[in-house]
Amino acid sequence: MGERDLLPPPSAGEGIAAHTILLRPGADLTGFRDAARRLVAHGVPPGAVTWGIESAPSLFGGGAAPASETPLVLPRAVAALIPGVVPHRDPERYGLLYTLIWRSLHGERHLMEVASDPLVHRLYRMSKAIGRDLHKMHAFLRFRRVEGGEGERYVAWFEPDHHILEAAAPFFVRRFAGMAWTILTPEGRAVWDGTTLTYGPPGSRTDVPEGDGFEAGWQTYYETTFNPARVNPKAMKAEMPKKYWHNMPETASIPALLRGAADRTAQMIEREPTVPARREPARAVAAMADQDPKTLAELNAIIRRTEPLVPGATQAVLGEGSVGATLAFVGEQPGDQEDLKGRPFIGPAGQLLSRAMAEAGIDREASYLTNAVKHFKFTLRGKRRIHEKPTAGEVSHYRWWLDRELEFVAPKLVVALGATAVLALTGKSIPITRARGPFRFDRHDDRFQGFITVHPSYLLRLPDEAKEEAYAAFVDDLKRIAALGAELAA
Ligand code: URA
Repeated sequence: MGERDLLPPPSAGEGIAAHTILLRPGADLTGFRDAARRLVAHGVPPGAVTWGIESAPSLFGGGAAPASETPLVLPRAVAALIPGVVPHRDPERYGLLYTLIWRSLHGERHLMEVASDPLVHRLYRMSKAIGRDLHKMHAFLRFRRVEGGEGERYVAWFEPDHHILEAAAPFFVRRFAGMAWTILTPEGRAVWDGTTLTYGPPGSRTDVPEGDGFEAGWQTYYETTFNPARVNPKAMKAEMPKKYWHNMPETASIPALLRGAADRTAQMIEREPTVPARREPARAVAAMADQDPKTLAELNAIIRRTEPLVPGATQAVLGEGSVGATLAFVGEQPGDQEDLKGRPFIGPAGQLLSRAMAEAGIDREASYLTNAVKHFKFTLRGKRRIHEKPTAGEVSHYRWWLDRELEFVAPKLVVALGATAVLALTGKSIPITRARGPFRFDRHDDRFQGFITVHPSYLLRLPDEAKEEAYAAFVDDLKRIAALGAELAA
């Protein structure tokens, strides 16, 4: 908070005094909170306040007014919304937020639950816009390497729609903690020296070099992950709007890739299947994966556009079922049919699972089904694609997705089907025979209960004489799972 009305109490008989509050340019969360505290403490209603922005930009380093002594106790939903709206570019944001605070403290404590209220609706839309802007900045910002007197540094230029630099910077600190970097925007800069994050004056696009050695890596990455059979230019532009393209080296390839998409699809269909070449997760793959999806749909969009760790799969096979399902079943990796159709558990093992679930009284449609690894891995025998078990490294590569997926679905009970699922959920190799039954997946902080059982494909591989008994034991496990699920959902 800079020069501003320090709110002398209005004198008796004057009616309601008008107050002008000047906040610093950008997102002045501290200034707003402090002003709101003072205004509430002095009983100043929203109609008596004019919110403005200091003209002398004391952005980044202006002296703050002393904080109000009186704490402001707000309903939790109101307090949570404020930081998500303050960075919005709308000049009315502070006035709207103060109105929300005032109403919440004057008889409308549950106002935030009234989604149809025009003020609540508008503020929610504003916070969603901030969420989208942050997502774009996290996903589309690209650093260029600069060699200088102080050694290697990375610099990026980004033009957010809102005042989100300070809200976005901590993500890059976590993501690129070991690099010295600067993010330049038209409103200010964030500088990380490996230890401290500071803010400074704006930069310009020309302060960032046009290309560097990393550029070709991004471009190659994009060209190899581009799947011509699934190209949808409209969805592509919605997800990665054109205005960001100039910062992103890989987008230089888009026009040519789009032009060649039809031919490449025809070639892919004609081509015989080939044995995939193995490769290590590239740095760029990891960087693309390290995004911050806000919904299961956003997470799935990331998985869909990510190249398999071991190339060869037709597509990523995503989890199936609803957010909030009581039971989630985690398998190993999609098989041949799952890979072709893009759905989990529809091949022979999946059909056996469906039958056993039905016998145990579990509604498959009401459950969530997914896999530890999202892409099919195989070796070729003639023209047949023979399933190959994922390695521990591959399971750990995909663990990020499984963890996020389970966070979004939030099941009450997670069932690990077989050893790969157990490895994905616990990070450890645990024999099924030892751990079968209810199990605590302690990596997941008790967010859900766990249960370990065999994978249905194990039953398919057993000699005929052992099948019946093993299947009955599997159905028994599923019955226990059904009972546990019903108990947890009650
Ligand atoms: N096996 C699995 O683990 N998952 C599937 O989706 C199919 C078979």
